[in-house]
Amino acid sequence: MAAERGHELQLEGISKRFGDSVAVRDIDLRIAAGELVALLGPSGCGKSTLLRIISGFMPQSEGRVLFDGKSVDHLSASKRNVGIVFQNYALFPHMTVRQNVAYGLEVQRYAKDRIGARVQEMLALVQMTEFADRFPRQLSGGQQQRIALARCLAVDPKILLLDEPFGALDKNLRLDMQLEVKRLQREYGITTVLVTHDQEEALSMADRVAVMSRGRIEQVSTPVEIYDQPRTLFVNEFVGSTNTFTAIVESGDTQALSVRLQSGELLMVSAVQALAKGSAVTVSIRPEQMRLGSEASANAVAGVIAAALPLGPQVLYDIRRNIGPGFRVAVPRDGDTTIWAAGQAVYAAPRGTGEYRAFAANTSST
Ligand SMILES: Nc1ncnc2c1ncn2[C@@H]1O[C@H](COP(=O)(O)OP(=O)(O)O)[C@@H](O)[C@H]1O
Ligand SMILES: [Mg+2]
Repeated sequence: MAAERGHELQLEGISKRFGDSVAVRDIDLRIAAGELVALLGPSGCGKSTLLRIISGFMPQSEGRVLFDGKSVDHLSASKRNVGIVFQNYALFPHMTVRQNVAYGLEVQRYAKDRIGARVQEMLALVQMTEFADRFPRQLSGGQQQRIALARCLAVDPKILLLDEPFGALDKNLRLDMQLEVKRLQREYGITTVLVTHDQEEALSMADRVAVMSRGRIEQVSTPVEIYDQPRTLFVNEFVGSTNTFTAIVESGDTQALSVRLQSGELLMVSAVQALAKGSAVTVSIRPEQMRLGSEASANAVAGVIAAALPLGPQVLYDIRRNIGPGFRVAVPRDGDTTIWAAGQAVYAAPRGTGEYRAFAANTSST
């Protein structure tokens, strides 16, 4: 297997324009050797463009791509030695599995007498040894995708680029493949960039997640940080679900502000940036970060239960307010919890470590 493993990948000030439109804008990102970073964002935010620039299939308008600290901008795609797997596993239909995996090795002029052993090794790695003589049409989507991965890893790429590689698979198969690719990536120690619009996929597979919106990276952090400490409203809303309330800053500093909802409640909130007194903010809190009570209390938002949805491990309440849009509270069913009925007046406040987070009303890039 690879003698040399895990290469560092660095992007410096990468931008890409198509005519007047900017597909990616001023991207700085450093990916450590052996790390798996997910590029997560909605369709059209520039993920694939960035991946193509890394691969060398598309030149950037500005900036530099470096592998192990050395610029690769002068190298064509074939010279960069990256492996790419796309959503539509492009196996050669007229070749067997064995021939498909051998193909890249032949192109790379791998020593003829070693190709057979290398193919065996790769098929074992993706647990497809017994399928060596089948044709792609005789394999399931997941199996084909594993062969695409084996073919890609056979030539020992410096960096593995995955562009929505599980997008065509159904949900159960996708989970199997996610676990499998994560295992291979670990075992193989290969630096990997995974493009996905699926937040669960990004959070479950990546060491770090780069959330993208409109050609920019909004935040790069570990999955837990992305979820618990979103730096922008876009990240907060795109990853997981959240309630939002519009409010006006009454007083405070960066760490702790008090804000007033239009419906009158005064809330203590935290913010990632200084927000001026009198300015409009969006306050966010996730449904599972709130609890319900029947008495008015400090820091609580008043409402009336519109619907109670018993979702097994938790009950999700849909709550109406007198003024402004409603919100949701997810209450875990740990034994003696009251089930609130539609029509009951409730007060919802942060639970445990939950807190309201305030973002300047114009920070959302959606
Ligand atoms: N070859 C191209 N020519 C013109 N515009 C392009 C081209 N490739 C991508 N774009 C545009 O760049 C933006 C980002 O596209 P893309 O990187 O494919 O997004 P994503 O992979 O996140 O869905 C989109 O607005 C898309 O229309
Ligand atoms: Mg794409």
